[in-house]
Amino acid sequence: MHQMNPKMHFRFVFALLTVSFSHEALGKNLKYRIYEEQRVGSVIARLSEDVADVLLKLPNPSSVRFRAMQRGNSPLLVVNEDNGEISIGATIDREQLCQKNLNCSIEFDVITLPTEHLQLFHIEVEVLDINDNSPQFSRSLIPIEISESAAVGTRIPLDSAFDPDVGENSLHTYSLSANDFFNIEVRTRTDGAKYAELIVVRELDRELKSSYELQLTASDMGVPQRSGSSILKISISDSNDNSPAFEQQSYIIQLLENSPVGTLLLDLNATDPDEGANGKIVYSFSSHVSPKIIETFKIDSERGHLTLFKQVDYEITKSYEIDVQAQDLGPNSIPAHCKIIIKVVDVNDNKPEININLMSPGKEVSYIFEGDPIDTFVALVRVQDKDSGLNGEIVCKLHGHGHFKLQKTYENNYLILTNATLDREKRSEYGLTVIAEDKGTPSLSTVKHFTVQINDINDNPPQFQRSRYEFVISENNSPGAYITTVTATDPDLGENGQVTYTILEGFILGSSITTYVTIDPSNGAIYALRIFDHEEVTQITFVVEARDGGSPKQLVSNTTVVLTIIDENDNVPVVIGPALRNNTAEISIPKGAESGFHVTRIRAIDRDSGVNAELSCFIIGGNEENIFIIDSRTCDIHTNVSMESVPSTEWELSVIIQDKGNPQLHTKVLLKCSIFEYAESVTSTAMTSVSQASWDFSMMIIISLGAICALLLVIMVLFATRCNREKKDTRSYNCRVAESTYQHHPKRPSRQIHKGDITLVPTINGTLPIRSHHRSSPSSSPTLERGQMSSRQSHNSHQSLNSLVTISSNHVPENFSLELTHATPAVEVSQLLSMLHQGQYQPRPSFRGNKYSRSYRYALQDMDKFSLKDSGRGDSEAGDSDYDLGRDSPIDRLLGEGFSDLFLTDGRIPAGCK
Ligand SMILES: *[C@@H]1O[C@H](CO)[C@@H](O)[C@H](O)[C@H]1NC(C)=O
Ligand SMILES: *[C@@H]1O[C@H](CO)[C@@H](O)[C@H](O)[C@H]1NC(C)=O
Ligand SMILES: *[C@@H]1O[C@H](CO)[C@@H](O)[C@H](O)[C@H]1NC(C)=O
Ligand SMILES: *[C@@H]1O[C@H](CO)[C@@H](O)[C@H](O)[C@H]1NC(C)=O
Ligand SMILES: *[C@@H]1O[C@H](CO)[C@@H](O)[C@H](O)[C@H]1NC(C)=O
Ligand SMILES: *[C@@H]1O[C@H](CO)[C@@H](O)[C@H](O)[C@H]1NC(C)=O
Repeated sequence: MHQMNPKMHFRFVFALLTVSFSHEALGKNLKYRIYEEQRVGSVIARLSEDVADVLLKLPNPSSVRFRAMQRGNSPLLVVNEDNGEISIGATIDREQLCQKNLNCSIEFDVITLPTEHLQLFHIEVEVLDINDNSPQFSRSLIPIEISESAAVGTRIPLDSAFDPDVGENSLHTYSLSANDFFNIEVRTRTDGAKYAELIVVRELDRELKSSYELQLTASDMGVPQRSGSSILKISISDSNDNSPAFEQQSYIIQLLENSPVGTLLLDLNATDPDEGANGKIVYSFSSHVSPKIIETFKIDSERGHLTLFKQVDYEITKSYEIDVQAQDLGPNSIPAHCKIIIKVVDVNDNKPEININLMSPGKEVSYIFEGDPIDTFVALVRVQDKDSGLNGEIVCKLHGHGHFKLQKTYENNYLILTNATLDREKRSEYGLTVIAEDKGTPSLSTVKHFTVQINDINDNPPQFQRSRYEFVISENNSPGAYITTVTATDPDLGENGQVTYTILEGFILGSSITTYVTIDPSNGAIYALRIFDHEEVTQITFVVEARDGGSPKQLVSNTTVVLTIIDENDNVPVVIGPALRNNTAEISIPKGAESGFHVTRIRAIDRDSGVNAELSCFIIGGNEENIFIIDSRTCDIHTNVSMESVPSTEWELSVIIQDKGNPQLHTKVLLKCSIFEYAESVTSTAMTSVSQASWDFSMMIIISLGAICALLLVIMVLFATRCNREKKDTRSYNCRVAESTYQHHPKRPSRQIHKGDITLVPTINGTLPIRSHHRSSPSSSPTLERGQMSSRQSHNSHQSLNSLVTISSNHVPENFSLELTHATPAVEVSQLLSMLHQGQYQPRPSFRGNKYSRSYRYALQDMDKFSLKDSGRGDSEAGDSDYDLGRDSPIDRLLGEGFSDLFLTDGRIPAGCK
């Protein structure tokens, strides 16, 4: 602006006064004062120091940052975010900022970050005036005409000077250069502007002096004082007859601010008693009226109609003072003056303005996090209305769905805070509406919308529909078979809602659960890793854990999955008594057996359960004469006739034992029954095959034989005492035979091979992975053998194998071993097992000391048909590789050529087996 006097260069001063808000948690009201025209960058305050007492109450005062919520685009004051230094951002010119307003201040709000402990500081910086402007006249020469007949005391209004400064620095007074005829009087207009009136103090004589040039000076009271001047050129004219006269010296007119252009404000009636041109009156604005009046009003020169030329605005100018003059057209006419004061009346013509300050600049969206506590800061709202009085009083409301509230801070400033803890999963976005309504009649209102978006946090764990899932699956599934899917839902967003599934470690029959089932981590699909065998495991229970991807904390939940394995009729009945040889049992029937004699009982078991294990027996051949009857339920065979009455002595009974499953499985046995004579029966070796089922009958025979023996012994003793030299009786021999026959070696419990013992062994380039880790050994584990095998394996690992199906040893009957060679037809394993059960593969006993070779080998040239069963899932393979973890079974599996070599060197395996 204007050049500053050096003395004006004082440092900015600022007085600081603080006023606490009614709402305690929300900080303070701070006031500063600065002079205008400060150097850009000057620091006027440090918030971190001025509000230190408030900051100290916050949890982490040193990390607090300050964010100014400015109202203009190019802020005059800037706030340093780190330390809250307020400095000058652009030259502040008070005159430009506030014109003639006495109170000029810059207001803005500063909030602290983070918003959880939001503090709001209202900053008011009052800009003080410096005397940087001089009073100025719009014209440097002011011409004035005065009639020589003008009476002493005649007043003529003069141009006013203008000084944009305020207070002491604004125009204060006028002075006129010294003279004898004129004086001035300083007057104040209704709008506060000062002007001077020229007063004639002495009679004027045109003949003596026809013109005067006087200097009119306007000055302020600033320090230092500033002034401006203009020249009054006063010319004295000849007297005229009569001057026009106004009815009144001044008028006051109320003008509604919304009056339309063209409104007649005043119909002026000046009168001039002269005739002709001397009496013709012309109206006009006085020469010194301001340009603002000329552009706002119009006066009709002939009729004196003052009309509105441009719409007025109370909010800009509240009153106008118009000087009008009326002049006749005669020579040397002296104008008459009239003052018209126009008072603009406020009309409620301004809607309230709503200013919403969100944390995110440039967007109409405010972001908060779900779970933020009540009273979390959302937005700052400022309302204003340019109208005055009731028209400018605003009632502010918020439609906040009950979840947001409006809180007044000071004057027309509000905070929007949360009124509840929000949950993004219930609602992720709120549209808020701020309504500002003034109290005028009719009242005007403004509505403003903005959006609050709720950001996600990981507050929901994945949720399974049930805490326990029960599924059934039939046994004999293919490995890799899809079983079921368990899904957990997580309503959180993105990673927070991304669920991964795992099966928690557990053990079933000593084996890791991960060798039984696997789960797709991404979708919860569960797959079988083995062929399930109902006869081995009827139920698998495991825990599936769902975990989301939230950070830093992942949330977990679990569910229990119970997998029930349903039985299928996959086991044929196995006959365990009477002892069979090549599926044939030899039964002896005493000659004297009556009708109803209990011949034998076929004892059979079926490893299946339910109807699949309900057995029934029928004689299907060899009983054409109906000599034998069979109880199909108990499988007891009786004679239906007395043996003495039948001619034949031998029968080959074909008996079928079948279960009730679907499909029905059966076993056939051949019973070779023969009649023996009573005495012969003692020596008959056939007795050895009489099972424990016919114990009663055997007992009877034994008791009777024992009695006979005892009798013979008595006779022998008697005989010996008579004849000392006698040879042994063959009957005693028979007796011992009978005894030893009776106490024959007790049968070991029969062990069965079944599908659960069969696992697929993945091969790497055709060679087997070497497994040497075994947790424990069964009671009769051949530890030594295994050691030998391991070393042999490594010796011979170069030898290529296609694949092996191995059968866990501890389920194999210990008193035999079986080898299947290349020559064996490529039969399915289950068929092989059936064949084993049905005796089509005769186990070859391989008794060595106190150990039993208990391994089976089934090497096929092409095992692809088995690898096809493993349906090729990546994770099922991973599970396979761990399949023998924790199994009791020692890995006495035969591994290719090396193992058979071992046996060959042991000399236990016939060479033909290779
Ligand atoms: C200016 O401020 C003072 C106090 O600061 C107050 O008394 C006065 O009414 C205000 N004037 C205007 C025009 O606002
Ligand atoms: C001037 O005269 C007209 C007509 O006689 C009248 O309507 C009007 O009110 C008068 N004006 C004033 C200011 O008295
Ligand atoms: C704020 O919550 C309280 C309690 O839930 C309720 O009474 C009040 O009406 C709510 N305020 C707003 C503005 O929704
Ligand atoms: C599964 O979750 C329940 C509670 O939801 C918990 O009590 C149990 O310990 C969890 N089980 C496992 C294995 O994590
Ligand atoms: C087994 O019995 C079948 C007929 O039942 C017979 O053909 C076969 O030779 C017998 N085998 C042995 C080893 O006795
Ligand atoms: C057993 O014999 C009786 C008569 O001797 C006969 O009626 C009956 O049918 C026979 N039972 C069977 C199952 O053959």
